[in-house]
Amino acid sequence: MHPLALLGCLVALSHCALASKAKRCPPPPPLQNGKMDFEEFQYQSTVTFSCDPGYNLVGSRTSQCMADGKWTGTVPQCQPVTCAPPSLPEFGVLSFRRLNPGNVSHFLDTIQFECVPPLALIGNETATCTANGTWSSIPVCKVVTCPTPIGIENGFIEFAVRRTYHYNESVSFGCQPGFVMEGSKHSRCENTGNWSTKPACRAPCKIPVKKAVVLYNGEKKRVQNDLKDGILHGETVSFFCKNKEKSCAYTVDVACVDGNFTLPACFKERGFFSTLVKKDPSEMKACEDEA
Ligand SMILES: *[C@@H]1O[C@H](CO)[C@@H](O)[C@H](O)[C@H]1NC(C)=O
Ligand SMILES: *[C@@H]1O[C@H](CO)[C@@H](O)[C@H](O)[C@H]1NC(C)=O
Ligand SMILES: *[C@@H]1O[C@H](CO)[C@@H](O)[C@H](O)[C@H]1NC(C)=O
Ligand SMILES: *[C@@H]1O[C@H](CO)[C@@H](O)[C@H](O)[C@H]1NC(C)=O
Ligand SMILES: *[C@@H]1O[C@H](CO)[C@@H](O)[C@H](O)[C@H]1NC(C)=O
Ligand SMILES: *[C@@H]1O[C@H](CO)[C@@H](O)[C@H](O)[C@H]1NC(C)=O
Repeated sequence: MHPLALLGCLVALSHCALASKAKRCPPPPPLQNGKMDFEEFQYQSTVTFSCDPGYNLVGSRTSQCMADGKWTGTVPQCQPVTCAPPSLPEFGVLSFRRLNPGNVSHFLDTIQFECVPPLALIGNETATCTANGTWSSIPVCKVVTCPTPIGIENGFIEFAVRRTYHYNESVSFGCQPGFVMEGSKHSRCENTGNWSTKPACRAPCKIPVKKAVVLYNGEKKRVQNDLKDGILHGETVSFFCKNKEKSCAYTVDVACVDGNFTLPACFKERGFFSTLVKKDPSEMKACEDEA
């Protein structure tokens, strides 16, 4: 029995009779986005409602179990906090749109800001409706310029004009013949006033042997004739190496990395005499597996 009811028993016997006849209340339905605090569901027990952060309680904060087994009042609701449209000091250049459906912003809804070109947005492009009904942040629009862009090593700026550039304008780069571009061809004037990362021009490689037969794009080539200009950055050639014990040959791939090219240790450049009397490894039978 509820302690209060027991106390009632001692004070007035009629109350005691009512208490013993009283029904229990059913558990209240769960509260969406909130919680209930209670100990018992007996006559005169109370339940206290509260809402999660970002939600406001609409209705009564407490309810009591009545003698007829019903709770007093109606179950309250937790309604999300709303944020009023942001007040834009820079109205005209700064605008926003809701990213959630509807024309009202609730707790955790987001909006996206935009500046009228060529102004740059400084701050956070998106804002969230916070628990206290304010927007998490509001950006500003500013004039941003980037300095005359500087060229890149072994490359050039296409159609370069020596001037400062506005936010979001871009320039394009090219590489000297034989050089391979790595990265985006374009660089953009960013809202920091810096240029976005420029591409790099990677150097070709000379193949550091006088004479050799190698595989290039799957075909046998003579370095001294077909590859005397070298290969491009990122390309690969395969050298033939000899396994003396098994008198067979295997290949080792070497890639050109920005002008760097390292011959495989197993590769032996052949002298004049050896070319006369011995088979080139490129003509020997292939080893079954790597030596
Ligand atoms: C919000 O939109 C509803 C329809 O989606 C419309 O009935 C209501 O008038 C609008 N409220 C405002 C303040 O524009
Ligand atoms: C921008 O605000 C959002 C909340 O709307 C937050 O999640 C995000 O981390 C913020 N971004 C930056 C760069 O501060
Ligand atoms: C609202 O909450 C944010 C943090 O979420 C706080 O920075 C800001 O001061 C609060 N504003 C008010 C009016 O309470
Ligand atoms: C920047 O320019 C590109 C076109 O070059 C455009 O698609 C993009 O929307 C612009 N961004 C801003 C923030 O103005
Ligand atoms: C952008 O430029 C500023 C100086 O204006 C510099 O301090 C900053 O490090 C630069 N940021 C990047 C990402 O290069
Ligand atoms: C060769 O590679 C090293 C790093 O591995 C680099 O520092 C060097 O600049 C490269 N040499 C050439 C000629 O590109």
